[in-house]
Amino acid sequence: MQTRAKDFFDSYADGFHLIYGSKRSFFGKLGDRLFRRSMYLRYVQTLAGCEPVRGKTVVDIGCGPGVYAIALAKRGAAHVCGVDFSKSMINLAKQKVKNEEDGHRCKFIHADFMTYPFADKFDYAVAMGFMDYVQDAKKVVERILSLTREKAFFSFPDSSGLLAWQRKLRYTKKCPLFMYSEKELHALFRDIICKEYQIKKISRDFFVTVNIAA
Ligand SMILES: C[S@@+](CC[C@H](N)C(=O)[O-])C[C@H]1O[C@@H](n2cnc3c(N)ncnc32)[C@H](O)[C@@H]1O
Repeated sequence: MQTRAKDFFDSYADGFHLIYGSKRSFFGKLGDRLFRRSMYLRYVQTLAGCEPVRGKTVVDIGCGPGVYAIALAKRGAAHVCGVDFSKSMINLAKQKVKNEEDGHRCKFIHADFMTYPFADKFDYAVAMGFMDYVQDAKKVVERILSLTREKAFFSFPDSSGLLAWQRKLRYTKKCPLFMYSEKELHALFRDIICKEYQIKKISRDFFVTVNIAA
């Protein structure tokens, strides 16, 4: 199951990275396109949710080409650790960070998030576009929260609507995809924690913030 997702992202890394566009046109048209709107909105929400980020440590789970990790380092994070089990994604992130002034505050690790032995906890955890490919959501969310001191941010794909149906169809042959209703997410987070969490609908995703320090 996980091997299919890993193989898929290894072959799709360049295509995925292209969605973000070049440096000059970064997210230029993205915000206007319904299908990619969630990617834009979750990026904006995550960066806002991490403020104040200066001096904080962050783990970017399923970091892909490192877009979030690099943006957070540029905004002043003390250290951002990106982890991804796709070698192609990690190579893209390492390539990208070379040209960044604040790149030394990012570290990219090629590993499965579920088994990598992290030495310490992080102030913030970011899991964007990651839960879509996770079979046992409860186990993964519990691990993420166990590594987080203050706040964790997740995106979960909405299982309802035409876009969900289209996406599910497109992914049939690519890799397994896991989608959720808002009710299922409430059940998941209520079951895991009694700390503060918020679920916000953003285009084709739900954006979830868990405030551990609350
Ligand atoms: C859709 S991409 C999202 C990338 C990035 N978070 C972003 O939004 O730009 C999902 C990433 O999660 C990674 N991934 C999925 N399951 C993983 C796991 N168990 N451990 C590490 N990476 C994983 C995939 O390789 C892929 O690069």
